[in-house]
Amino acid sequence: MSLAIVYTRAQAGIDAPLVSVEVHLSGGLPGLFIVGLPEAAVKESKDRVRGAIQNSGFEFPARRITINLAPADLPKEGGRFDLPIALGLLAASGQIPRERLDQYEFLGELALGGELRRIRGVLPATLACRDAGRTLLTPGENAGEAMLAGGAKVLGAAHLLEVCQQMVTGNALQPPVMQPRAPSGLALLDRDLSDVRGQHHAKRALEIAAAGGHNLLLIGPPGTGKTMLASRLPGIMPPLNEAEALETAAIASVSAQGLDLQQWGVRPFRAPHHTASGVALVGGGGQPRPGEISLAHHGVLFLDELPEYDRRVLEVLREPLESGRITISRAARQADFPARFQLVAAMNPCPCGYLGDAERHCACGQEQVRRYRARISGPLIDRIDLHIEVPRLAHRILRGGSPEESSATVRARVCAARERQLQRAGKPNSALGTREIEHYCALSDADHKLLEHALERLGLSPRAYHRILKVARTIADLAGSGTIKTPHLTEAISYRALDRTMGGVRYS
Ligand SMILES: Nc1ncnc2c1ncn2[C@@H]1O[C@H](COP(=O)(O)OP(=O)(O)OP(=O)(O)O)[C@@H](O)[C@H]1O
Ligand SMILES: [Mg+2]
Ligand SMILES: [Zn+2]
Repeated sequence: MSLAIVYTRAQAGIDAPLVSVEVHLSGGLPGLFIVGLPEAAVKESKDRVRGAIQNSGFEFPARRITINLAPADLPKEGGRFDLPIALGLLAASGQIPRERLDQYEFLGELALGGELRRIRGVLPATLACRDAGRTLLTPGENAGEAMLAGGAKVLGAAHLLEVCQQMVTGNALQPPVMQPRAPSGLALLDRDLSDVRGQHHAKRALEIAAAGGHNLLLIGPPGTGKTMLASRLPGIMPPLNEAEALETAAIASVSAQGLDLQQWGVRPFRAPHHTASGVALVGGGGQPRPGEISLAHHGVLFLDELPEYDRRVLEVLREPLESGRITISRAARQADFPARFQLVAAMNPCPCGYLGDAERHCACGQEQVRRYRARISGPLIDRIDLHIEVPRLAHRILRGGSPEESSATVRARVCAARERQLQRAGKPNSALGTREIEHYCALSDADHKLLEHALERLGLSPRAYHRILKVARTIADLAGSGTIKTPHLTEAISYRALDRTMGGVRYS
């Protein structure tokens, strides 16, 4: 029989659906036909596979060859299928045994000389292969990444010949030696919260944001430490657990940059510039790739100078801010990526930056200020639970000698508060739905009146109402209190600075 079947994996979002490569040799005029791959990918793959087979000392079968990649409607990038195609050809023509093939899945691009080249997206493929009970054979350069999938059977090879040896003997390749490393979750150790002097009000908000998973907006004049504060948020958040670390790594694995093993288990901190394109921010491309909002999954997305971002891009953020996912549609193809990030945004109070500053005069007119702020839509502002002003510090405080709290100290409090939330509702407070808010964030009658009065006075939306309750719940959790008390509620209300300072102006 001159049919061989080899298993491999395609990539769709961060899923890796199974693909069978069926190779059939028959009589008739010699030729090579590949079904189920896009035209351009087929041509390149043909050339590489032919070169690799011949330069490895095998014979390229002079028969009519039909190769089917099934199912046909999957998105398929060319390179990764070179190795399974080559092995199928060699097995169908009797040059390697086919008995062991079905215990493996193969991925890898071939160089003309037969060397295996690294590909993208190996981690999702490894997770799926593990669950199918097979051994994954990848380029050696990808083996370290594949080994992150705990419990997976992985072999790495540098050359087509090594893979063929493995098919002959079953024990030619040794599994890669990797130190199994638990995700540390401790991001950016060089950025400690104790570097930031003063700003205790902002630090308090940062701690609440970390504890409850709340979004945060920092408003203040230039040079008051907004960027410093934002970049220290991942370091006070609870460490990533294994499942979160794998999800985050899987997204990086399929991204244009690929996975950096140094970042394994580290909470992401992504700070795309406001000039970055829509595709770079939310994802896209012919073969859809995740954007910054997905690379920030389980971590922090920092948008500095918020009003400078393209308004259409900011509007796109509304959906993932609610659902934690983004769907990218392009022509006939669609990809879905996780995007459960915590948003930290920073902005100046006005175009010149010095509105309300004690030392410098603001040169902006009222209308200019209004237009500047109107660049951020009300619905987006509504989705940011904590608004905080970051004022200029007296030089005395900046120089001051009193020690500041370290990230580790704050993180311990955050973890305790987060634990309470998980025990109570199985999720951080920011993720509570309307029903759950009513259930878990009950107020006394007096506090209820207090809140209604505040909403009226500040002209807040119904969405803001629920957000205040969630923040109050987090403040109570940090205080170790089973119920929300008046001081927790009033503090939560105080974090609606933008609603307040925008003084009743409505934004579309
Ligand atoms: N509270 C602070 N403690 C220690 N250093 C500070 C503090 N605030 C500002 N700095 C110093 O000022 C520099 C600028 O801070 P940072 O970039 O965080 O300000 P910013 O508010 O983001 O300003 P901009 O609005 O211009 O982006 C820091 O690199 C740091 O050296
Ligand atoms: Mg800054
Ligand atoms: Zn100004």
